Amino acid sequence: MIKHEIRDIVEADADQLMALWRETWTATYSPVLGSEAVAAMLEDLDQNKLDGMLPGKGERGICLASDEGIIGTVVVAERCATAQIWGLYVRPRHQGCGCGTKLLAAACNPLPPEMKIEVRVLFTSEPAISFYKRHGFVEIGTECSVLPGHVSVPTSVMLASVGELRA
Ligand SMILES: CC(C)(COP(=O)(O)OP(=O)(O)OC[C@H]1O[C@@H](n2cnc3c(N)ncnc32)[C@H](O)[C@@H]1OP(=O)(O)O)[C@@H](O)C(=O)NCCC(=O)NCCS
Repeated sequence: MIKHEIRDIVEADADQLMALWRETWTATYSPVLGSEAVAAMLEDLDQNKLDGMLPGKGERGICLASDEGIIGTVVVAERCATAQIWGLYVRPRHQGCGCGTKLLAAACNPLPPEMKIEVRVLFTSEPAISFYKRHGFVEIGTECSVLPGHVSVPTSVMLASVGELRA
C-alpha cells in the first residue's frame, strides 16, 4: 500500500515540484488552452524556476508526498478575513482518489471556522469547478486571471467558509 504524508513544502522539493507542475499544467491546460499557451507557461516556469510558484512570505505551501514522491500541492495565504488558495494540483494518475480533498483539508485545518476561503478556477476546468462545488464553494463572480507566461484566462471566483468545508 502506498503511504501518504501531508507536509509543508521545503526548498529541497524544487525539482519534484517543477516536474509535478510541468505534468499537471500540460495535462490540464493543453486540451483547453492549446499547446502554444502551455509552451509559454512552461517556458516561464523554466526561466523563473519557482519564483511566484513557491510560497512567499505569509503563504504556506503544502504537499502530499508518497513513496513515489510528491503527488499533489496547494498554497494558502491569509489575507485579512479571507484566505486565498491556489496551486491545487494532483498528478493525473492519482486524481479521483481523495488526494485533492486531503490537500484542501490540510490548507483549511489551521484556519478559524469563521474565515472565508477563496479560489479562482478556469472556466474550462470543469472537473475542478465540480470538485470545489462538492466541497461547498459557490461562485461569487468572474475575473480575468493571468497564468505564468502571461496567459490570460477567464476564471470563476469561488468562495466557501472554513466551517462549512469542515462540516
Ligand atoms: C481538481 C483536483 C485538484 C482534484 O483533486 P483530486 O485528487 O482528483 O480530488 P478528489 O479525489 O479528492 O475528488 C475528485 C473526485 O473523486 C471522487 N473521489 C474522492 N475520493 C475518492 C476515493 N477515495 N475513491 C474514489 N473516488 C473518489 C470524488 O467523487 C470527487 O468527485 P468531484 O470532483 O465531483 O467532487 C485535481 O483533479 C486536479 O489536479 N485537476 C487538475 C488541476 C486543476 O484544475 N486544479 C485546480 C486549480 S484551481
